[in-house]
Amino acid sequence: MLRYITAGESHGKALVAILEGCPANLLLSPEDINSDLARRQAGYGRGPRMKIETDKAEIISGVRKGKTIGSPIAIMLPNKSTELFNTPFTQLRPGHADLAGSIKYNQKDARNILERASARETAGRVAAGAVCRKFLSEFKIKIESRTVSIGGVLSAGMWEKMIDEAREKGDSLGGIFEVAVTGAPIGLGSYVQWDARLDGDLARAVMAIPGVKGVEIGLGFGAAAIPGSKAHDEIFYDKQKGFYHKTNNAGGLEGGISNGEPIIIKAVMKPISTLRTPLQSVDLATKAPSAAHVERSDVCAVEAAGVVGEAVIAFETARAFLNKFGGDSLEEVSSNYTSYLKQASVL
Ligand SMILES: Cc1cc2nc3c(=O)[nH]c(=O)nc-3n(C[C@H](O)[C@H](O)[C@H](O)COP(=O)(O)O)c2cc1C
Repeated sequence: MLRYITAGESHGKALVAILEGCPANLLLSPEDINSDLARRQAGYGRGPRMKIETDKAEIISGVRKGKTIGSPIAIMLPNKSTELFNTPFTQLRPGHADLAGSIKYNQKDARNILERASARETAGRVAAGAVCRKFLSEFKIKIESRTVSIGGVLSAGMWEKMIDEAREKGDSLGGIFEVAVTGAPIGLGSYVQWDARLDGDLARAVMAIPGVKGVEIGLGFGAAAIPGSKAHDEIFYDKQKGFYHKTNNAGGLEGGISNGEPIIIKAVMKPISTLRTPLQSVDLATKAPSAAHVERSDVCAVEAAGVVGEAVIAFETARAFLNKFGGDSLEEVSSNYTSYLKQASVL
């Protein structure tokens, strides 16, 4: 079973991701991970921290002589920016976990909430996802993302100006990103049980990205406004291509199973919660009205959220792939995959 967890605080020593269940004999180097980490730190509207941190992965287990050996892969991302770790604050920030987290964990210093609830943790998800991406590339499965809109505007030419204006006002912006998986075979996921559905796994993984407030697969919410005759993708057959569709409103998933078309997922990211012109709030210690705590922050991080989206989708796709074609070495998985493709082409 493929699984991963992350550990680490935003301004602590380091972030750590542990990925277990990756087959042996996959070529893996820190560079495979660093390129995705760099993309997570990029994008117009990012805050000053991105200039301080240049994430570099240290693979501390699971790899020998440049290849995975089947044991858990631990990846460490040392933090350069640690100076805020000991700075307490109590002016709760709306839109963050500060209020609910402080009460839930019985904390008097909201720093204890911020440090783990911060989206800095998504660097760990990106590291684990990069290994999954490398695994999937062995089977010609690719995952890419793009920004669809910022602040409700589709035209990319407007975005930098809008982000600059938001920054000047001490405000922030959200938007929509899309992730596409191409090259996935028919048959990942299943309808036989609710928790076997790949659509459910993908939606959960994307919804769990900090700041994401809505997820769509294929036509998504657009399907509510059109009749069935326009919503569903008709099926065709060609001797060379096999079964195929001319449209992809289903976003590559039918009955919770990949149907051979690109898997298309969109997500809405709310505007960044930390505002330089702070919102009204309450001080956790005194209960008196107070402006929210301000800490250096992004103004807009939709592009970076798309990179995190790629990572969590890479993990879910790799997990579904291994559930179906599982093996302990890359060779065993390849042989299972090839035999399935042979069986499917006979149909
Ligand atoms: C890549 C990325 C970067 C983010 N950067 C910031 C940031 O700099 N400041 C901020 O307030 N929120 C940022 N967020 C969003 C918050 O982490 C998120 O809104 C907060 O943790 C509350 O979680 P929720 O919005 O899911 O409820 C970022 C999210 C992502 C995915």
